[in-house]
Amino acid sequence: MKPIAILIPILAAAVAAQQVAQPSKDACIECHTAMDGPIQQPALLIKDDIHMANGLSCADCHGGDRTSDDPTVAMSTAKGFIGAPKRTAIPQFCARCHASPDFMRRFRPQQRVDQFELYKTSVHGKKLAAGDENVATCIDCHSVHDIRAVKNPQAPVYPSRIPDTCGRCHADAGKMAKYGIPTNQLDQYHTSVHWAALQKGDLAAPNCASCHGNHGAKPPEVASVAAVCGNCHVLFAQNYDKSVHAPIFSAASGGGGCIVCHSNHGIQKPSTAMLAGAKAVCSGCHEPGTPGAKTAGQMAQWIDGLGDALKHSEAVLGEADKAGMEVSEAQVRLDDGRDDLVKARLAMHTFNPDEMHKPIEAGMAIADETLRAGQQALHEKNVRRVGLAISVFFIAVTVAALWFFIRRLEASGSGRLEPSN
Ligand code: HEC
Ligand code: HEC
Ligand code: HEC
Ligand code: HEC
Ligand code: HEC
Ligand code: HEC
Ligand code: HEC
Ligand code: HEC
Ligand code: HEC
Repeated sequence: MKPIAILIPILAAAVAAQQVAQPSKDACIECHTAMDGPIQQPALLIKDDIHMANGLSCADCHGGDRTSDDPTVAMSTAKGFIGAPKRTAIPQFCARCHASPDFMRRFRPQQRVDQFELYKTSVHGKKLAAGDENVATCIDCHSVHDIRAVKNPQAPVYPSRIPDTCGRCHADAGKMAKYGIPTNQLDQYHTSVHWAALQKGDLAAPNCASCHGNHGAKPPEVASVAAVCGNCHVLFAQNYDKSVHAPIFSAASGGGGCIVCHSNHGIQKPSTAMLAGAKAVCSGCHEPGTPGAKTAGQMAQWIDGLGDALKHSEAVLGEADKAGMEVSEAQVRLDDGRDDLVKARLAMHTFNPDEMHKPIEAGMAIADETLRAGQQALHEKNVRRVGLAISVFFIAVTVAALWFFIRRLEASGSGRLEPSN
C-alpha cells in the first residue's frame, strides 16, 4: 500500500475534525458573498440582522449544511435545505421559530409568540390564505435579511417609519386599484396633529399600527373607532360616552364616534371654528336656529370669551411686570385659569352646556381677579410716577432757589470786598 493511500482518509478525518472544532465556519455566507447580484445581497445585508446578532444564520432559516463548500451538499434537500419560501408560505416560515415558545425562550424569555396566530385573523392574513399575494406578509413590514429589533430607530416598524412602510402599498394607487379603497391615508396622516407630534419625537402619538394593530391589523370597524381614540384620550372618551351623541354616532347607528367631527387620518388642531362659522362641523346636522346650533354657538362664545379674557389679563400683567411691579403671584394664578380653559374643552365633549359652564365660570373669575391685580399694579406704578414727578419738581425748585441764594450771597460778599480797591 502506498503511503498516500493511507494518508487520504487520515487527512479527510483531520479536515472533518477541524470542521467540527470550528462550528463558526459559514460556507453559506462565504460563497454568497463571492456571488453577484440578487443572490449576493442577502449575504451583504445580514450584518444588520437581529437573527445574526443572536447567533442565527442563513441555514437556521433556509436549512442546508453550512459546513460544506460544495453547493450540491450545502443546499441539498437531504440536508434540510428549503431555499427561498413562496410568498404565501412566508408567515409559516417565520412562525417555525416565532410561534414556538420553547425555541424563543432560549433567546428571550419574555418574547411574544402570537404573531402568526394574530396575523391569521387580520385582513392581510385572511387574504393571503385565500391566495392574494398583494397583501402584507411578515417581510413587507419587517424587511428580510436586514431585519432589525423593533426598538431600533432604523427598523421599518419603528413608530416614525411605520407610515411609510404601510404607505408603500396603501399610498400606491396602482397596487390598490383593484380593491377600490382610498389611497389617501398617508397624505392625510402627514397633515395631522398626530404626525406632527410623532415627528417632534412624541412616540405616544399614534402611527398607523397604533390604530389598526400590527399583526392583528384590525379591519377599521366603525365599532372600534371611538374605543381606539379612547385608548389614549381617556377623559375625552369618558365625557363623550355620557353625551347625547354617543348612542347616535355608535356602530349600531352606522356612526363613527370621534371621527364624525375629527376625521381619522387627517386630524387637525381643533378650534372654535369647528363649533361656529362657515366651517363648523355641527352645522352639518344642526340647522341654524335649532337648539343644537344655538348651544354650539354658545359653546364657541364661552371658549373664545375665556381665551380672550385670559390673554387680556396676561397682557396687562406683562406690562406691569416690565414696569418692575411685583405681579408674579397673579401670573402663577393665571395658570389655573388656563387649566380651566382646558377643562372646558374637555367638558364640551359631554355636549351638555351645564357641565361646560362650570369650568368656564371658574376660569372667568380667575381672569377677572388677575386682571384686577394687573390693573392695580399699573395704577400703583402711575401713583408712584406722579409722586416721583412731584418730588423731582420740588427738588429742582429747591436746588434752583439754593443756587440763586448762593449767587446772591456771593454778589453781596464781593460788594463788601470792593472798598479795598
Ligand atoms: C459554493 C457556493 C454556495 C454555497 C456554499 C451556498 N450557496 Fe446558496 N446559492 C449559490 C448559488 C450559485 C445560488 C443560485 C443558483 C441556485 O439556485 O442553485 C444559490 C441559491 C441560494 C438560495 C436561493 C434558492 C431559491 O430557492 O431561489 C438560497 C435561499 C440559498 N442559496 C441559501 C444558501 C444557504 C442557506 C447555504 C448554506 C447552507 C448556501 N446557500 C450555501 C451558491 C452557494
Ligand atoms: C430570518 C430568516 C432568514 C435568514 C436568516 C436568511 N434568509 Fe434568505 N430569505 C428569507 C426569506 C423569507 C426569503 C424570501 C424573500 C422574498 O420572498 O422576497 C429569503 C430569500 C433568499 C434568497 C432568494 C433571493 C432573494 O433575495 O429573494 C436568497 C439567495 C437567500 N435568501 C439567501 C440567504 C443567505 C445567503 C442568507 C445568510 C446570509 C439568508 N438568506 C438568511 C429568510 C431568511
Ligand atoms: C402589517 C405589518 C406587520 C406584519 C404583516 C407583521 N408585523 Fe411583526 N410587527 C409589526 C409592528 C408594527 C410591530 C411592533 C413594533 C412595536 O411594538 O413597536 C411588530 C412586532 C413584531 C415582533 C416583536 C414582538 C411583538 O410581537 O411585538 C416580532 C417578533 C414580529 N413582529 C414578528 C412578525 C412575524 C413573524 C410576522 C408574520 C407572521 C409579522 N411580524 C408580521 C408589523 C408587522
Ligand atoms: C430560526 C428561528 C427563526 C426564524 C425562522 C425567524 N426568526 Fe425572527 N427571531 C428569532 C430569534 C431567536 C430572535 C431574537 C430574539 C428576539 O429578539 O426576540 C428573532 C428576532 C426577530 C425580530 C426582532 C424582535 C424584537 O422584539 O425586536 C423580528 C422582527 C423577527 N425576528 C422577525 C422575523 C421574520 C419576519 C421572520 C421570517 C422571515 C423570522 N423572524 C424568522 C428566530 C427566528
Ligand atoms: C405589501 C403591501 C401592503 C403593506 C405593506 C400593508 N398593506 Fe394593508 N393591505 C394591503 C392589501 C392589498 C389589502 C387588501 C385591501 C382590501 O381588500 O380592501 C390591505 C388591507 C388593509 C386594511 C383593511 C382595509 C379595508 O378596509 O379593507 C387595513 C386596515 C390595512 N391594510 C392596514 C395596513 C397597515 C396599518 C399597514 C402597515 C402597518 C399595512 N396595511 C401594510 C397591502 C398592504
Ligand atoms: C388615529 C387613528 C388612525 C391612524 C393613526 C390611522 N388610521 Fe387608518 N383608519 C382609522 C379609522 C378610524 C378608519 C375607519 C374609517 C371609517 O370607517 O370611516 C381607518 C381606515 C383606514 C383604511 C380603510 C380605507 C379607508 O381609508 O377608509 C385603511 C386602508 C387605513 N385606515 C390605513 C391607514 C394607514 C396606512 C395609516 C398610516 C399612514 C393609518 N390608517 C393611520 C384610524 C386610523
Ligand atoms: C396612541 C395614542 C393615541 C391615539 C390612539 C389617538 N391619539 Fe390623538 N393624540 C395623541 C397624542 C400623543 C397627541 C399629541 C399630544 C397632545 O396634544 O395631546 C394627540 C393629539 C390629538 C389632538 C390634538 C389635541 C390638541 O390639543 O391639539 C386631537 C384632536 C386628537 N389627538 C384626536 C384623536 C382622535 C379623534 C383619535 C381617534 C381617531 C385619536 N386622537 C387617537 C395620542 C393618541
Ligand atoms: C360632535 C363633535 C365632536 C365629537 C364627536 C368629538 N369631538 Fe373632540 N372636539 C370637538 C370640538 C368642536 C373641539 C374644539 C374645541 C375648541 O377648541 O374650541 C374638540 C376638541 C378636541 C380635542 C382638543 C382639546 C384641546 O384641549 O385642545 C381633543 C383631544 C378631542 N377633541 C378629542 C376627542 C375624542 C377622543 C373624541 C371621541 C371620544 C372626540 N373628541 C369627539 C368636537 C367633537
Ligand atoms: C352627524 C350629525 C351631528 C353632528 C355633526 C353634530 N350633532 Fe349634535 N346632535 C345630533 C343628533 C341626531 C342629536 C339628537 C337629536 C336632536 O334632538 O337633534 C344631537 C343633539 C345635540 C345636542 C342636544 C340638544 C339637541 O339639539 O337635542 C347638542 C347640545 C348638540 N347636539 C351639540 C352639537 C355640537 C356642539 C356639535 C358640533 C361640535 C354637534 N352637535 C354636531 C347630530 C349631530
